[in-house]
Amino acid sequence: MYLSLRGISKAFAGVAALDGVSLDVDEGEFVCFLGPSGCGKTTLLRIIAGLETPDAAEIRLNGGNLLEVPARARNFGIVFQSYSLFPNMTVTRNIAYGLECRKWPAGGIPARVAEMLALVNLADQAGKYPHQLSGGQQQRIALARALAPKPVMLLLDEPLSALDAKVREELRGEIKDLQSRLGITTIMVTHDQHEAMEVADRIVVMNRGRIEQEGRPVDLYERPANRFVAEFIGRMNVLRGVHGHAAAGIRPEQVELVAGAATPDCWTGRVERCLFLGSITRVTLGLDNLDGQRVTIELQGRRDDLAPGMALAVRLPPAALLRFDDPN
Ligand SMILES: Nc1ncnc2c1ncn2[C@@H]1O[C@H](COP(=O)(O)OP(=O)(O)OP(=O)(O)O)[C@@H](O)[C@H]1O
Ligand SMILES: [Mg+2]
Repeated sequence: MYLSLRGISKAFAGVAALDGVSLDVDEGEFVCFLGPSGCGKTTLLRIIAGLETPDAAEIRLNGGNLLEVPARARNFGIVFQSYSLFPNMTVTRNIAYGLECRKWPAGGIPARVAEMLALVNLADQAGKYPHQLSGGQQQRIALARALAPKPVMLLLDEPLSALDAKVREELRGEIKDLQSRLGITTIMVTHDQHEAMEVADRIVVMNRGRIEQEGRPVDLYERPANRFVAEFIGRMNVLRGVHGHAAAGIRPEQVELVAGAATPDCWTGRVERCLFLGSITRVTLGLDNLDGQRVTIELQGRRDDLAPGMALAVRLPPAALLRFDDPN
């Protein structure tokens, strides 16, 4: 095991931020910490970085005790959410500075800076100051700066959250490409499930200082361990009273429209909303039975044949139903 975390706990003023977190990360893996605000993602990342001291924990990197290594000596590349470039230094100086601090041979620094700028496609911006760059460019420089000293691990805390949606999507593709090209072990914190699903080999879903579930995106989506994970990763209809389960979950794309007369295994209802979202149409159906609970259905493409007020019958295929024991 490359990075191994055991029993990590941390309280601030008596309130637990992390409650016995254990996790293994493989070399070269891209892991995302995903969870709602305040669940402990940043605290866990900062503990790995050595910027925060855990109350109780064992952390090993390549078998060695990481807690004995001061943050400065850990050689991790770190990028935070807010642009953390030095405002009074050019792009070149920003990247070179970290290398000088780490006592890189001066002769090798310009070439390394140029290599990093080429890596993030910003060679033409070398002489600019941070305020002369767009937000996306600043984060790419922050990434270049973090990677320049050849860190053994890359730690990213919501590096894209300050960017607008389009740039964010572009940049997460770039981060993923970079990560797989360099093969660098990477941990990224995010509360954006789409971001996590797109970049991560493995997602760690956190809630209230604990890990709810970890696994490949496809595993979490298809086999969520509980309702929290089911509702945090993707959309999930949760219905009470279906086929005798306390609560049953079904993904919107698994609900089947039934054409023609309703059969006994169908649920009928009335279309409340019909949203065209480009590649899909999202329909909200108010059921005639089951206390009028709503079901969201996602259908491929544009569906001009459906409109609010229309009666509709759907089937919830038993194989697609997830059973949740907690009725809330
Ligand atoms: N330095 C601190 N002093 C006191 N409480 C803190 C400190 N840092 C974090 N906390 C508390 O610990 C809990 C976890 O915080 P953390 O920053 O790890 O959450 P997060 O998952 O990163 O949230 P977000 O998505 O909002 O960034 C929160 O309740 C927070 O208020
Ligand atoms: Mg945070």
